[in-house]
Amino acid sequence: TAIWAVVPAAGSGSRFGGDVPKQYVEVAGRPLIAHALDALLAHPRVDGAMVALAADDARWPGWTSHHDKPVLTCQGAAERALSVLAALDALRERAGDDALVLVHDAARPNLAAADLDRVIDAALETADGALLAAPVRDTLKRGDRDRSAGTQPRDGLWRALTPQAARLGVLRDALRRALADGIAVTDEAMALEHAGLRPRLVEGREDNIKVTTPADRALVEYLLRASAS
Ligand code: CTP
Ligand code: MG
Repeated sequence: TAIWAVVPAAGSGSRFGGDVPKQYVEVAGRPLIAHALDALLAHPRVDGAMVALAADDARWPGWTSHHDKPVLTCQGAAERALSVLAALDALRERAGDDALVLVHDAARPNLAAADLDRVIDAALETADGALLAAPVRDTLKRGDRDRSAGTQPRDGLWRALTPQAARLGVLRDALRRALADGIAVTDEAMALEHAGLRPRLVEGREDNIKVTTPADRALVEYLLRASAS
């Protein structure tokens, strides 16, 4: 099976702020997206990557890849799900509908090889797709403005991480259908669920953090430096 990474990197990083689009913010000496792509391309089973970039991206690539696998780019869109869909459309001719795609946020620089391996294995064993996820650890409150109006049992609740994996054709159809049905699609599994599939939850490391705010960046900087030394 051909296995391709799909990296949405067309966001603006509005919650992060600053002048540099979030995917190009440097941590441990390299942009977030360089860490994310390296983690994906370093895996022997990954054949290459398709990266969705903003139309006005002037920074790509801006660093040297350590891998000689194809890294293709396409134009992203206004929503993450639309950027992923654009990448799948662009990858389809090259890789075909049967390729396994691993959708991974450019803003998650600390992906462990063992987690990548496990989500690939899980996705190859099922027709429903698979995603890395972490069990919810905090107690969950339902807010009524600034008052707690109840506690949501956290049993069986997971936080969705990436990579999220599925066959290209299956995911493309699911995303199209979910978007056409007006679903606010925030991850690939949501689209697969809407298509009646039950993606496998693969417990992943909690330090596979998505950098959303400057505080996340400090944490990830620490984690990346610790794993490099
Ligand atoms: N992304 C994308 N296309 C979009 C929006 C997001 O490709 N229209 C990508 C981002 O570049 C990021 C990933 O999806 O790698 C996860 O999105 P998020 O963390 O929300 O990043 P941003 O959308 O850039 O940040 P914000 O929501 O704070 O603006
Ligand atoms: Mg966003």
